[in-house]
Amino acid sequence: MKLRNENVLIFGGGSGIGKAIAVRFLEAGAKVCIAGRSREKLEAAAEEIGSEKLWCHAFDIADVDRHEACFEACAEMLGQVDSFVNAAALGTGAFTGRGYEPWDITGEEWDALTDVNFKAAFFLIRNEVDYLRKHGLRGNILNIASNAACMDIIGSYGAAKEAVIKWTRAFGKRFGHDGIIINGIAPGATFTPMIARYAHSIDQPYERHAIGRFIRPDEIAELAFYLMSDYGQIVCGHTVVADGGDNNATL
Ligand SMILES: NC(=O)c1ccc[n+]([C@@H]2O[C@H](COP(=O)([O-])OP(=O)(O)OC[C@H]3O[C@@H](n4cnc5c(N)ncnc54)[C@H](OP(=O)(O)O)[C@@H]3O)[C@@H](O)[C@H]2O)c1
Repeated sequence: MKLRNENVLIFGGGSGIGKAIAVRFLEAGAKVCIAGRSREKLEAAAEEIGSEKLWCHAFDIADVDRHEACFEACAEMLGQVDSFVNAAALGTGAFTGRGYEPWDITGEEWDALTDVNFKAAFFLIRNEVDYLRKHGLRGNILNIASNAACMDIIGSYGAAKEAVIKWTRAFGKRFGHDGIIINGIAPGATFTPMIARYAHSIDQPYERHAIGRFIRPDEIAELAFYLMSDYGQIVCGHTVVADGGDNNATL
C-alpha cells in the first residue's frame, strides 16, 4: 500500500491528529507542509519531527479569500500540492473553557467557532477541489470530522462536524469522476491538546469508549494513510467513524 499522492498540505498539522498524520506520511516518503495559525507551534512540531521533507506555513483558514494564495505558497515549498488534510478546528471546550451545553457559548464565541469549523471547512474543500481541477491533478482530500456529529450535541461543534460529513459525501461523489478522492474520518476522543481538559494521560481509563481508553493520534494517522493510499479510493465520499465504540454516539 502506498500514498496515492505525495505532496501533502496538512491544515492543523502543528499538533494532535494533524501532526501524527504528518509523521506517518513523512515515514511513507511524502513531502509535507504543516499549516496553522501559530508559527511557534509549527516550528516546534517541525523541530520535534526533524525531517528535511517537512515545511511550515502560518495561515488562518478563516481567511477564506486567501486559500488559493496559501495553496500556491505551499506548492512553492513542496514543488506541488496534490493532497490536502483538513484537520484544523476549534473544540468548544478548548476554545471557551466550557462544555457543549447550549448555554455554554456566547454569540461572539459562536461566530469565532463557526467561522473556522463551519465556514472555513466548507470553503477549504471547495477551494481545494478548484485548485486540483485547475492544475489537472487527480488529488486527495481528507476531512477530519468528529463522532460529535453522531451525538445529541445541541450547539455549534457537532453541527459543524455533521456538515463536514455531508460535504465530504457531496463533493466526494461529484469529483471522484475527475480522479479527486475525498474522504473523511470521524474520530472519538483522541489524546490531543483539544481534549486536555479531561484527558490527562493516555493510560487514563475512558469508559465511554467500548475499548476502555482514549484513541491515540497515530491510530487515526494509520487510518488516514489507508484512506489516502492507492487502496483507499474505494471509500469515495465517505467518513469512517473511528471512535472505539463510543456509547454516546449513534449512527
Ligand atoms: N481530539 C479529539 O478528541 C477529536 C475528536 C474528534 C475530532 N477531532 C478533530 O480532529 C481535528 C484535529 O484536532 P486535534 O484533536 O488534533 O486538536 P488540536 O491539537 O487542537 O489540533 C487542531 C489544530 O488546528 C489548528 N487550528 C485551529 N484553528 C485554526 C485556524 N483558524 N486556522 C488554521 N489552523 C487552525 C491548531 O493550530 P493553531 O492553534 O496554531 O492554529 C491546531 O494545530 C479537528 O478537526 C478536531 O475537531 C478531534
